[in-house]
Amino acid sequence: ITIRRATIEDMLCMQNANLHNLPENYLFKYYMYHVLSWPEASFVATTTDDVGFGEFDELAAGANASRCKCDPCYVRPGEKLVGYVLAKMNDDPAAAQSQDALNGHITSLSVMRTYRRMGLAEKLMRQALFALSEVYKANFVSLHVRNSNRAALHLYRDTLEFEVLDVEKSYYLDGEDAYAMKKVLDTDE
Ligand code: ACO
Repeated sequence: ITIRRATIEDMLCMQNANLHNLPENYLFKYYMYHVLSWPEASFVATTTDDVGFGEFDELAAGANASRCKCDPCYVRPGEKLVGYVLAKMNDDPAAAQSQDALNGHITSLSVMRTYRRMGLAEKLMRQALFALSEVYKANFVSLHVRNSNRAALHLYRDTLEFEVLDVEKSYYLDGEDAYAMKKVLDTDE
């Protein structure tokens, strides 16, 4: 399995993986916006093996289940996308006045079911954190995660040492609360 920087050619498969794994989905142009604006911040995990993706998780994909193409998605012949991290810098004009302008944000992260618990999400995240710090000079990185998402919470809080800043009530469309999390980037790392 290879971890490499995401390119424009990977965008359709990233969107496909997102529809497969998460109920928070984005227009295709939002993926393009990330990769065109911060071309060094997002990463993909790909493989040339021919292992399937396992059972489709209807519950995880929620209302979007019917829109998901559950077949493996090939970024080019023989190379299948198995995970991605979509990352950006804060582009909120209101934040541009302060140090907040230099914060990175993880928009979305997911790994296809058959490829979980192999350390891929941790590797994708570490690459994104490094790029946000080194290339885009982010002072800290923020993200949101569902209160019920134990796997992601473990990854962010325990493995990657993000701190929980706040609970944002009814952050998600279905009413679930989010943990707002933050990791200060140590530029010496
Ligand atoms: N339960 C408990 N801990 C878990 C679980 C789990 N189900 N899955 C992973 N972990 C832990 C691992 O044990 C590891 O901890 P360690 O460092 O103590 O060994 C750590 O999390 C990292 O594990 P990875 O193998 O790198 O994680 P993986 O590649 O399996 O991906 C992910 C984790 C991304 C959360 C995956 O389960 C997934 O795609 N879930 C569905 C989509 C999702 O929830 N994405 C995050 C949404 S939040 C956002 O996008 C900002």
